[in-house]
Amino acid sequence: MTTYNHHLSRYHEGLFAIEDQALRFARENTPKKGLPPLNVRPEEGRFLQIVARMCGADTALEIGTLGGYSAIWIARGLLPGGRLITIERDPYHAEIARQHLHIAKLDQCVEVRVGEAPAVLPGLEDSSPFDFIFVDADKSSYIDCYDWAIQHLRIGGVFTAHNAFRGGAILNAETADSAALHIQAFNQHVAGDERALSMIYPAGDGTLVAVKIKD
Ligand SMILES: C[S@@+](CC[C@H](N)C(=O)[O-])C[C@H]1O[C@@H](n2cnc3c(N)ncnc32)[C@H](O)[C@@H]1O
Repeated sequence: MTTYNHHLSRYHEGLFAIEDQALRFARENTPKKGLPPLNVRPEEGRFLQIVARMCGADTALEIGTLGGYSAIWIARGLLPGGRLITIERDPYHAEIARQHLHIAKLDQCVEVRVGEAPAVLPGLEDSSPFDFIFVDADKSSYIDCYDWAIQHLRIGGVFTAHNAFRGGAILNAETADSAALHIQAFNQHVAGDERALSMIYPAGDGTLVAVKIKD
């Protein structure tokens, strides 16, 4: 068995997740603008991009924009003419994300909506069904986001969620923080849902992937 580690991750990224100028700028500029450095890793972004393309995504949704780094990866995986809506609760984060998306020439393809996910999601009924959904927001909302997502994905559409390993904290119920407990419950919730085929892609901090197979 191969144990995935930092060295393999660097090798992996160096071959398959090479950032262009726009991606590098978005990643480096995000903390310079005072936002927390919570973006996905390049290999995780590349994975999202590939999954979006594998499911032929034309209509995609992201919950948790930050500086738009993952949005750039996802948007570049969409079919030509595809569209990504990304939800961000913090207006300042949304403003920085819009700047990064403009630099990446994706402002026509990506719409940043400001608000709390539970308040914004009901207004997206008309944009559904989605082909691809990515959640990277507060961990207490993951189960609700999944329950909404699985109802608003087409059959064959894919749900993804960041931090499914929570740095390994999910393994120990005694030392797990509240976010890790939320992730534990979320992983269990998705694993037990017969409407989807799911697993955790283990690079980075783990990305839960669930393809919808029935209503
Ligand atoms: C982990 S960061 C997202 C990183 C981004 N996906 C990336 O990789 O570039 C989480 C972001 O989601 C926002 N957020 C957290 N909970 C949210 C919620 N319930 N609704 C909307 N935005 C939320 C935070 O303000 C923060 O900007």
